[in-house]
Amino acid sequence: MRILMVGDVVGSGGRRTVKKLLPRLRHELGIDFVVLQGENLAGGFGITLETAYEMIEAGADVITSGNHVWDKRDIVRKLDDPAFPVLRPLNYPPSNAGRGASSDGQVAVVNLIGRVWVGEFDSPFAAIDDLLAGGWASDKPIVVDLHAEATSEKVAMGWHLDGRVAAVVGTHTHVATADCMILPGGTAYVTDLGMVGGMHSVIGMHVEEALERFLTGVGRRFRPVESGPMRFNSVLIETDDSTGMATAIERVDREIEL
Ligand SMILES: [Fe+2]
Ligand SMILES: [Fe+2]
Repeated sequence: MRILMVGDVVGSGGRRTVKKLLPRLRHELGIDFVVLQGENLAGGFGITLETAYEMIEAGADVITSGNHVWDKRDIVRKLDDPAFPVLRPLNYPPSNAGRGASSDGQVAVVNLIGRVWVGEFDSPFAAIDDLLAGGWASDKPIVVDLHAEATSEKVAMGWHLDGRVAAVVGTHTHVATADCMILPGGTAYVTDLGMVGGMHSVIGMHVEEALERFLTGVGRRFRPVESGPMRFNSVLIETDDSTGMATAIERVDREIEL
């Protein structure tokens, strides 16, 4: 199985970049399944129904999310629809809408959120242990998106799940890391996928407002960069059908002009 995992897609520029590149990449690289991190799809903050369907049409099989998933209200009710392939992190308190894991397709997907410098959530380590303890989705490759700030927390999760899932990838920082590896137990790992968004930006947002916040300590509204040079960050993971574990992981990074 060849699985492409795409980093945080930021705003309409990110979505346009996905629509230009993903259908072609699916074909060129013989991709069977696409997981796309969508928490910043709608204007940089959250997901709307429209933007989710736009990405599904472009080739995303499952959309994962993170701390911004609650920003747009129209999506929240829809998260409870079992046929809607958008996940929210598993380790949010269970009283919230939606689900954090999906085993509907050829690949099972788990969405977790980290706690270091992100927020007060249940332990992502305990949450996934509970999920896997019952033999969940043991007949297919399982990939995990840990949406977290701290590199150490993501590296630790890789080792925690080594040999139990096909892949652990990190998201949320919007900065791609160069540490793709197969851990000894057969789990593919990378600390951060990166993003799909403007290159002349601060993590996808206009430089001016982001810089002003650092210089003055006073925040103005952030706006995503929607044109100019755009980067598309993802990783391709190959799994062995007989074991469900990974055999290869490599970065698939592209740049285009919008
Ligand atoms: Fe995030
Ligand atoms: Fe993000």
